[in-house]
Amino acid sequence: MTDSRDATRSPATSEAPRREPARVARPVADGLVMKDGFPVMPGKIPLLGHVHRISRDALSELRQAEAACGPIFWTYFGSKLPVLQIMDEEGLAILQNKYTDNSFLREQMPVITGEAMNAFDGQRHRNARRASLDAFTPKGLTRAQVGQFVVETIEQRLHRWVGDSKLAIFPETKDIALEVVFRILGIQTHELSEWRHQYEEFFLGMIPLKVDLPGFPAWRCRKARGWLEDRVAKIVADARARDDHDSLVGAMIFGRDESGNGMSEVELVHNILGLGFAGSETTAAVMAWSALMLSQHPEVWQQLCEQVAGLETLPFTHEELVRQVPLAEAVFRETMRLYPPAPFEMRKVHTAFELMGRQIPAGAMAGVSLLHVSRNPERYPDPDRWRPERWLGIERGLNAVETCQFGGGPHACLGRHVAALEITLFIAMLARELGPRGLSPRLAGKMPPPSYLPFLRPSNKAFLDLSGR
Ligand code: HEM
Repeated sequence: MTDSRDATRSPATSEAPRREPARVARPVADGLVMKDGFPVMPGKIPLLGHVHRISRDALSELRQAEAACGPIFWTYFGSKLPVLQIMDEEGLAILQNKYTDNSFLREQMPVITGEAMNAFDGQRHRNARRASLDAFTPKGLTRAQVGQFVVETIEQRLHRWVGDSKLAIFPETKDIALEVVFRILGIQTHELSEWRHQYEEFFLGMIPLKVDLPGFPAWRCRKARGWLEDRVAKIVADARARDDHDSLVGAMIFGRDESGNGMSEVELVHNILGLGFAGSETTAAVMAWSALMLSQHPEVWQQLCEQVAGLETLPFTHEELVRQVPLAEAVFRETMRLYPPAPFEMRKVHTAFELMGRQIPAGAMAGVSLLHVSRNPERYPDPDRWRPERWLGIERGLNAVETCQFGGGPHACLGRHVAALEITLFIAMLARELGPRGLSPRLAGKMPPPSYLPFLRPSNKAFLDLSGR
């Protein structure tokens, strides 16, 4: 396996076994409510729509809905947001933004997105994306010493974990992921807790409550955004004054698109600010799930400990780590397959198009469930089982379906090499820290159900026992 695995590769270029042509949406069960020719998922209630069902158990609820409705049906994320949910991997076509766009992000979450690239399409998006691209390549990450920041951050945290009999794993990995982003941005150690607090406030903007009065989530989000924008603007000004081309921020400041255009000052600040948002809960969730999965699979843990025992020093690049500890990469891929942090990708349809023999109407919101696409039994036998060995010994680049947890098309995750480096290092370092002490992660108590919205992540009450007692 190599670092050249890329979420944007076309399946047509891959050697992965292709499935049969798409299933055409089949006739639906009797008694379903229909809208624009598609069935509405059963169980819709006023105000919440299907949110109560999806947040309780998205995996089973949507599978049941698919059994009743076929692979395309309406889900309501609140009473006013109908999304045509596509359960089949053919639905990944919406991510290509040929007939769809990301305008809904600007409309629905303007305080979260600001002028960041994910809220734009076409030339404006291409400009920001290309100007940032170099910074996020494996080479750019090495130049910016991202591997070193990751190792330092994880090392400090793991020392504190040893001996803890009730470690709340997700809050811990969330701290790691945020701190990694902060260190990449060059934030001083003594400022970290204030930054953490401000980002927590900023994340409140994800709560879909529009009341913007003092003390309410939307107001607190906007206030925190103001604080963060001021600080990020200062980081940008300092890096510019130092003529720093090497750090991640520097590479974004001096990055240019193919016409030689860089990002405006506002775009720079908003895109850099957005990294903390895009790169923390997502990465943290996969790190936490990986540790939880290892706690359930002692035989994989044993093999992992044996692989890391051969490591003299920790490599700072993903490519080298994958070469030396292939099981860390396999654990990462398999965990993200079962638990894609952003399970429901959405787009606004600007031009009607045909999918699986059906006409997807212009003006609709369309979504593809990465959660279900990643558990397609035709592609992954025994799809609900965590089997990292699926990913071992594959001598080809992964295809767009296999890496769909990072999205696809022009907006595919910009930070996927950061995520892969951070998560595989975390997995290897966990085994390196605990293994030689004869410790292994064990679940303390029961595994509580996951949270599905807005991100798929373990409960804050999933605890690990690292005491060895
Ligand atoms: C396991 C960790 C991660 C997962 C699963 C993930 C997933 C995603 C997904 C699904 C998208 C949307 C793609 C689309 O709409 O097609 C996205 C976009 C993005 N991600 Fe990530 N992400 C992760 C980590 C990161 C990290 C660590 C960073 C940066 C440090 C990052 C930065 C971004 C940015 C900037 C975008 C917007 C790209 C654009 O609109 O062009 N992500 N990510």
